[in-house]
Amino acid sequence: MKQALEKIELAAKEQLAKVADSAELEALRVRFLGKKGELTAILKGMAGLSAEERPVIGQLANKVRADIEEAVESRAAELKDAAIRLRLKEEKLDVTLPGKAPKLGRLHPMDTVMREIEDIFIGMGFDIVSGPEVEYDYYNFEALNIPRDHPARDTQDTFYISDNILLRTQTSSVQIHVMENRKPPIRIVSPGRVYRSDAVDATHSPIFHQIEGLVVDKGITMANLVGTLDMLMKRLYGDECKIRLRPHHFPFTEPSAEVDIVCFNCGGKGCPMCKGEGYVELLGAGMVHPKVLKQCGIDPEEYSGFAFGLGLERIVMGKYGINDLRLLYENDLRFLEQF
Ligand code: DAH
Repeated sequence: MKQALEKIELAAKEQLAKVADSAELEALRVRFLGKKGELTAILKGMAGLSAEERPVIGQLANKVRADIEEAVESRAAELKDAAIRLRLKEEKLDVTLPGKAPKLGRLHPMDTVMREIEDIFIGMGFDIVSGPEVEYDYYNFEALNIPRDHPARDTQDTFYISDNILLRTQTSSVQIHVMENRKPPIRIVSPGRVYRSDAVDATHSPIFHQIEGLVVDKGITMANLVGTLDMLMKRLYGDECKIRLRPHHFPFTEPSAEVDIVCFNCGGKGCPMCKGEGYVELLGAGMVHPKVLKQCGIDPEEYSGFAFGLGLERIVMGKYGINDLRLLYENDLRFLEQF
């Protein structure tokens, strides 16, 4: 029996050394130490031993069991170690390899210029406000002194949603919202999308962007308007930039003007870009019509104001020398990456 035990221990240690993974190891453990294992089988024969032999063999059997258990445990640790070492080797990371730079996006030129213009106005003490794109006829036309039968409606081909709800054709609608909700002094600009049912070509799009400006306070004059716009254009295009006002008509301003700047392409000599004019038209402006002030509950005897609305696309195109409006909307990276 003593020999049998020693044989088992030897055999177990021999086999353990050959085990390659934890499943094999477990099978081996069951084979030697399990309830139906070889060691148990031998111990069952202890009943036939003499009283002197029994404690000796018993002690030996316990030692063999402890030895095998220890051997199994240490083999398990070895296997675990080997597995980790293998993983480390296979998943080796070479930190000296050049990295993959993530592709960084950038601002669309429209956003760049929009933010630049907003910054300029914030610097002059204006608030930035926004207004709804789906609008009541009242805000887009009626309150701006453009009644139903006014010819000015014809030049702004409108997308109607219902009889009195439409997609705003101009950010001037925000003027009314602001004057309804704030008391003078008012100093705001409002950038946003506007909609007109125009066919797409190099200079037209059914969706484009305007920036509206409105100042209402005591003693506001045309000089404040000119000073503000002059500052805007000099900040945008450089100190040499000159503006020019031409008389015009808008129903919601009196007097009204169109504002041009000296052509950024030819500097005023006349070229194809300014159609030989030497100037490029940039925006509409004027003194807020007393009727509009009154409509919004502001006393025109006490307060006066100026307003302006400029087309963002035209400014972006002028600033970067872009000759086709469609390029701004196509989102072609080859185009956008140039800015
Ligand atoms: N809303 C006008 C347009 O879309 C532009 C405009 C003209 C806005 C004069 C103004 C203004 O605020 O005073 O053609």
